[in-house]
Amino acid sequence: MRPTTLTKFLIERQRDGKIDADLRLLIETCARACKAISIQVNKGALIGTGDLLGTDNVQNEAQKRLDVLSNEILIEANEWGGSLAAVASEEMEAPLPIPLPHPRGQYLLLIDPLDGSSNIDVNISVGTIFSVLRCPEGVTEADEQAFLQPGHRQVAAGFALYGPSTLLLITVGDGTHGFMLDPYVGSFVQTQRDIRIPEDTSEFAINASNMRRWEAPIKRYIDECLAGKDGVRGRDFNMRWVASMVADVYRVLSRGGIFMYPRDAKNTEGRLRLMYEANPMAFIVEQAGGAATDGRQRLLEVQPQRLHQRIGVVLGSKNEVERVTRYHAA
Ligand code: F6P
Repeated sequence: MRPTTLTKFLIERQRDGKIDADLRLLIETCARACKAISIQVNKGALIGTGDLLGTDNVQNEAQKRLDVLSNEILIEANEWGGSLAAVASEEMEAPLPIPLPHPRGQYLLLIDPLDGSSNIDVNISVGTIFSVLRCPEGVTEADEQAFLQPGHRQVAAGFALYGPSTLLLITVGDGTHGFMLDPYVGSFVQTQRDIRIPEDTSEFAINASNMRRWEAPIKRYIDECLAGKDGVRGRDFNMRWVASMVADVYRVLSRGGIFMYPRDAKNTEGRLRLMYEANPMAFIVEQAGGAATDGRQRLLEVQPQRLHQRIGVVLGSKNEVERVTRYHAA
């Protein structure tokens, strides 16, 4: 049987009425941009992808060449297609309404063009995250306000993982599906259908160097995992931390696990960005049967107050996420 390409997958969904032609084009365009970014990632030091440009993004993080290049690739790929009203990015302070003379469409795109950028210099997997919302009715010049919609309003979300292979994980609200880039043909080919995250796990991912700043419920959960067989959990746990959310979440999608970047005494709101990191990942994880909260509340129900807002993230295997959320309520 012929493999299902991303194009075929999307056309089937369009025929079933799950997505319209504009959304199909938008997802395909993001996928095409991810292919272009993956080529730049592979060039690495040959083109100085990790070089500091001497500029900071809106969250005062030093921008590397690959951060800026990835942002440009995604914007240039998307601005003329006619599906979008505006784009918002981790690398841009304010949303960019689609400039004339390009036609404007009905969707809003949020991007983290290069996730895990501290890993660029060390040849470890990085990625791109995107989230799609509808532009509110009657809005012709989409500003920050137009984007401030809770995550359950997303109509699509995805991420690319630039690892030993380039992968694309997407959801349009009917499950989470995985594609691998065939670099010889240049197409994304479906390799995972309707991914299911196991409900239980014995693997956790957290940056343990923040331990002294954690709130009590997170400390309790991790202490219990670390106590292993000798503690209340009665079994040993394993720990993994890549420090690229895309890679850590892909591992959770592949074999289960819990991923946490909770708020703490230093990052009092949390570390990860709600609208273009936490929300798309929460949508993807929930569509794979997992759960995603900020420790207290379902992430997809959080009403954003600001485009670049940060939030605590606890996501992955359902029973473990529910346990952490219970500990917060206790
Ligand atoms: O926001 C970006 C990010 O690079 C995530 O991809 C990752 O999970 C996290 O930051 C890593 O944080 P730390 O450097 O504290 O391990």
